Amino acid sequence: KEIFFTLNGKPVSAEVDVSSTLLDVLREQFELTGTKEGCGVGECGACTVLVNGLSINSCLMPILEVESADVVTVEGLADEHGHLDPVQEAFIQHGAVQCGFCTPGMVMSAKALLMENPHPTEDQLRAGIAGNLCRCTGYIQIVEAIKAVTEPTGD
Ligand code: FES
Ligand code: FES
Repeated sequence: KEIFFTLNGKPVSAEVDVSSTLLDVLREQFELTGTKEGCGVGECGACTVLVNGLSINSCLMPILEVESADVVTVEGLADEHGHLDPVQEAFIQHGAVQCGFCTPGMVMSAKALLMENPHPTEDQLRAGIAGNLCRCTGYIQIVEAIKAVTEPTGD
């Protein structure tokens, strides 16, 4: 079946197997391999992307539900000049990346959180990434990185 949606700001279409997930289509058809497959069953958050501004586990989303939706992957965060998103910059500055497997999903969950609530408390911040597992256990740096993006810039 052919479906149409918006991917990282551009209208796209794809011939899909109706049993595919959004994760399958992103990785295999669009070659956007920033989005990772960890558990494949909704438990690790490595496959997190934004759909209509909300973070979702793409491994659980049937591709047919993506018709007409607005999908953003980690590849869509940098601007057209290649400047990274502030969340991505903060992860680098705070050493919040070890093996990097969880990083795209963490960054996307952080984006969703900050879009909804630009000044979360630490508890809200931790709740925002509660569905994302880091097998390298780098949570302290990850939380510090996201906090840095939420803090006032000194004015
Ligand atoms: Fe989707 Fe783990 S791969 S939640
Ligand atoms: Fe390795 Fe999080 S940095 S899984």
